[in-house]
Formats: sequence, structure tokens, C-alpha cells
Amino acid sequence: MSALVMQNKALNFDDALLEIKNVTLRFGGLTAVSELSVKVPRGAIVGLIGPNGAGKTTVFNVVTGFYKPTEGVVEFDGKKLTGLKPHKVCAAGLARTFQNIRLFYNETVLENVMIGAYVRQKGAWWQNIIPFSFPGAAKEERDIRSASLELLARLGLDSHADAVSSSLPYGAQRRLEIARALATKPKFLLLDEPAAGMNPQESQELLEFIHRLRDEFDLTILLIEHDMKVVMGVCEYIWVLDRGALIAEGSPEVIKASPKVIEAYLGKEGLVAEAGEEAAHA
Ligand SMILES: Nc1ncnc2c1ncn2[C@@H]1O[C@H](COP(=O)(O)OP(=O)(O)O)[C@@H](O)[C@H]1O
Ligand SMILES: [Mg+2]
Repeated sequence: MSALVMQNKALNFDDALLEIKNVTLRFGGLTAVSELSVKVPRGAIVGLIGPNGAGKTTVFNVVTGFYKPTEGVVEFDGKKLTGLKPHKVCAAGLARTFQNIRLFYNETVLENVMIGAYVRQKGAWWQNIIPFSFPGAAKEERDIRSASLELLARLGLDSHADAVSSSLPYGAQRRLEIARALATKPKFLLLDEPAAGMNPQESQELLEFIHRLRDEFDLTILLIEHDMKVVMGVCEYIWVLDRGALIAEGSPEVIKASPKVIEAYLGKEGLVAEAGEEAAHA
């Protein structure tokens, strides 16, 4: 990571953009998330890690309104989010990507981004189907198109604008999903395993990409990731979940050194491998 010049921000937990207060979610007899209380400081990049089945994606689903918690509340910028439907959560300024990429594969790259932008339009979506009867809608459609092209250019995807999404290489599909999320003009971005399936070079590029996004789009980011290089390289603060419960939180250095985390997540072999690698780079 030392090759990268990435500026970490000072974290102010008194100025939290997102606050999860005592959230529990049960599926029948299974407690997927247990009494979780955490804050994401405004402007931070926070990582959420833990073994498979720890409850990470469920936390995203609670925050974004896909699931309603059994107990507890989620607040965004001081306002209660709990109980809002996903599209309302999105309108409030939160956007996400999915563990398994979700794109409109038969649509072009540009169309995928435009779909994101419709969240912010003033007129009803159906006015765009018969735009000639609604001159305002026709102008809005043109504006959305040009803003979407500009966004694609900022993300280095403009050369693919007219390509069918399914034809993109895997790494570019991941970036397109992020582009579509950004088209909703979020303040808060949730990324669920964005480096999954990427080779080391793609992961490294993604790491720099996420950092650049935070700065250029003035975002706060919550990131679920298995790739420890990505997590330790990009996150300023990390939460560790195990069987639904928060077992540790802190800076990457604190997390790397936490015996609880090593036991639950990295395993003894993982620790030895990490230590060996650090020594090799020293
Ligand atoms: N809709 C659901 N119904 C029942 N159980 C679920 C549902 N979604 C997730 N779970 C369970 O909740 C636990 C946490 O899952 P998940 O949040 O996907 O974990 P992670 O993302 O950390 O791998 C798992 O045991 C999973 O099987
Ligand atoms: Mg998951």
C-alpha cells in the first residue's frame, strides 16, 4: 500500500452521517444481526468485515430499507431511516451496489447510468415515454443524458457508453454498477464486496478508484470486502462482525493486531501469512 499516496481523513465520531442504534434482525430463530451500535463519521471510508454469514450484507439491507430491523433504528444525518422503503432511502442520499453485480444487462452502459439518474428527476418517469406531450420532460431527458455521459467520462467508462452492459469486462461492470449508484447523487455509498472476483491488479485499481470517488464526489463510504489488501489499504476505520455481533472496531492497525479478529476471521494461518508478508516488505 505504501506506493499509494492516499490521504486519510481525521475521523470525527461526533459528526456521524450514519448511525446504527442497537439494531437486531432475526430471521425466525436465527439472529443475523445482534444489538449492533455503530457510527460512520461524515467523509470517512469505513470497512465492514467478518466471515461468511456474519451478517454483513444484512446490515446493508437494513440500512438501505430492504429489511426492517426487529429492534433498533438507523439514522442518517440525524433523521430516522428505519421504516422507509428502498427508493425513499435512495432519495435521502444513500446508494448501494450488490454482492452479485446487478445491471440491466441488455441495456447499454449509458442507459444503466440514466436509470440511476431518474431518481433525481422532477417529472414523473412516465412523462419520458411520451416526451413530446411534455416538453419539460424532453429537456429533462436530454439533461439526464448529458449528465450521465459526463459521469461516465469521469469514471473512465465513456468509451463504452453505447456498448451493451453484458459485453463489458468484469472489472468495468463493477465500475458501471458504482457509476449507476453515483448517478443517484448520493452522499453515502455502500459497496458490497466490490473486489469479489477481481485479480490482484484489478483490486489495486479498485482501491485507488474508491479513494478517488470519496474525495471527488464528497462521499462517505461503507465497504464490505473480503480482500484484506483492499480493506487495510482503503479503510480508515473497520468494524468486525462475527455471527451477527460486533467483536471489534478500530483503525486498520488495531484490527490487524486484535487477537479476537485474528481468531474469528483471519485464523492462525492467516496471521502467520500476514506476518510473513509484512516481514518481506519491511
Ligand atoms: N432473507 C433471509 N432469510 C433468512 N436468513 C437470511 C436471510 N438473509 C440472510 N440470512 C442469514 O443471515 C445470516 C447472515 O447473512 P449475510 O448477511 O448474507 O452474511 P454475510 O454478508 O456476512 O456473508 C446468514 O446465516 C444467512 O443465511
Ligand atoms: Mg454478504
